[in-house]
Amino acid sequence: MTKQVFINDVGPRDGLQNQAKHLTPQERLSLINALVSAGLDGVEVGAFVSPKAVPAMAGTTEICQQLSLSDCQYSALIPNMKGFELALQTPIKLASLVMASSNTMNEKNIRLDNQQTLSMIKDVIAASENTDIQLQVYLATAWECPFEGLIARQQVIDLAGELIDMGASRIVIADTIGAADPQAVNRLMIDLAKLFGADTFACHFHDTRAMGLADVYAALEAGIRRFDASIAGLGGCPFAPGASGNVATEDVVMMCEQMGYTSGIDMSLLLDASDLAVKLTQTARGGNAKTWLRKQY
Ligand code: COA
Ligand code: ZN
Repeated sequence: MTKQVFINDVGPRDGLQNQAKHLTPQERLSLINALVSAGLDGVEVGAFVSPKAVPAMAGTTEICQQLSLSDCQYSALIPNMKGFELALQTPIKLASLVMASSNTMNEKNIRLDNQQTLSMIKDVIAASENTDIQLQVYLATAWECPFEGLIARQQVIDLAGELIDMGASRIVIADTIGAADPQAVNRLMIDLAKLFGADTFACHFHDTRAMGLADVYAALEAGIRRFDASIAGLGGCPFAPGASGNVATEDVVMMCEQMGYTSGIDMSLLLDASDLAVKLTQTARGGNAKTWLRKQY
């Protein structure tokens, strides 16, 4: 099996959406550019969402129009058809729909229940067919919902199957509130990989209970090679009580590289991007290993 990992930095979206201090589009662009310079495979640059619902993501169109040309796969979150239409007017080629594994979380996040969400996703995928935008789907709160509690593994498997049948290009299994444990991650990702192929999936972990890196390891062991992470550990969902920062990109890269995986990322430039995230937000703390890493790079 290949020893390459693909890291998508979600700091400029998942990381910044929950910050009390809203960065300007130019500040957000400077962070995106720092991540691209460090060699990230992907960067989630923003969200085409209602600025009333998530004021920190206002200006995403402006950002998308100023992205530098690069091999980096830029993506943006879209909650509905209107978000897709907004994305279509920009150079973005990958858009991420979000569906929570539970009805309550879906209703809190995008005001639709699961059935309504599935039908909205079907419509957006159909609308994308004659465009050059690929659609991937986040299956959020895949292990535990802050409102409904533990999510049954079969429920996630069934939802993933439906989304794949609809034509989603990839499914990102997300632990929105950082409640998963490595054993549960390993079991679910092994089942999903067996049924649909490991390359169909990416994983997205939050470090709320300090299990983020262990969860990445558990997913790697299940054959998953694509991970979201957030520079300096920024992150959190405004609609999911208890959600805190994503697993930090610098920690994930360090662990993967030490275990012999290649990420194509320049650690020194990644740490510069982390410093910039800390400076811009004044709240990010940097990854757990940052002090040690800075002594090496
Ligand atoms: N982008 C920008 N504006 C949008 C929009 C989008 N994708 N979708 C809807 N709107 C606007 C509508 O035009 C309307 O504007 P108006 O009040 O000026 O007329 C307003 O939002 C309400 O529209 P409606 O269709 O009734 O949506 P809603 O109130 O049911 O809200 C969402 C639904 C999805 C738009 C909103 O909850 C949202 O953007 N949520 C963000 C989810 C998110 O980013 N979660 C974070 C992490 S997963
Ligand atoms: Zn998240």
